[in-house]
Amino acid sequence: MEKSKRKTVIAGNWKMNMTPSQAYKLINEIMPLAENLSGCEIVVCVPFVDLDTVSAVAEGSNIKVGAQNVHFKQTGAFTGEISADMLLECGASYVVVGHSERRQYFGETDEIINLRAKAALESGLTPIICVGELLAERDAGITAEVVSRQTKLVLAGFTAEQVKNIIIAYEPVWAIGTGRTASAEQAEEVCALIRNIIAGLYNLKIAEAITIQYGGSMKAGNAAELLAKPNVDGGLIGGASLDAAEFAAIIRAAQ
Ligand code: PGA
Repeated sequence: MEKSKRKTVIAGNWKMNMTPSQAYKLINEIMPLAENLSGCEIVVCVPFVDLDTVSAVAEGSNIKVGAQNVHFKQTGAFTGEISADMLLECGASYVVVGHSERRQYFGETDEIINLRAKAALESGLTPIICVGELLAERDAGITAEVVSRQTKLVLAGFTAEQVKNIIIAYEPVWAIGTGRTASAEQAEEVCALIRNIIAGLYNLKIAEAITIQYGGSMKAGNAAELLAKPNVDGGLIGGASLDAAEFAAIIRAAQ
């Protein structure tokens, strides 16, 4: 399948930034800049407490709303957690799962990430599942091994039908928030590898239809080059998504 037939998804990951009043301001700044840009899906993944506000403002627009984590059970004694149905009711249609910050600071494993993604899918949310190697792993020459293992584990037990509704974000950990972007060639190499792994797990048709994003210091200045690569179908954008003009420029680069 040609890249042009796949869905390009530009998703902002606001991380732990923006109170509801700040979120209201930012989404209102982004909306007019993104208004006529229909060449890609636009998503903002916001803190839980901003979901209601941002969804209300973005309703009926070309901007979709996502969360940044989801629990794997729907209800119950899980103090501090949020379920997929709760996210849906607050207007989310996407959710980031397995971000490297969740792995690093909250001990999330591939097995937990798999459960979270499964719960998201079962409720009808699209999970954006993150994989990516540490700097030490890249330096040791084991990027392919690490990313292959993560991809297989996070997708364990998914049916072909389910896997059609996921997005994978390749985020090399050494490029996140560091200002050090993977080169377009490095991003392409690993995104292509992930597509090959999915082809092996399922089939070529499914692999060719899946959106695979790059994330890690993507900004207006490097987005076009990254997004031009045949296996890079969008971006998961942290820092640069907090600036409406910068985020809009990345969306324009994806047109
Ligand atoms: P960054 O973050 O764009 O600030 O590097 C990307 C991410 O963590 O998703």
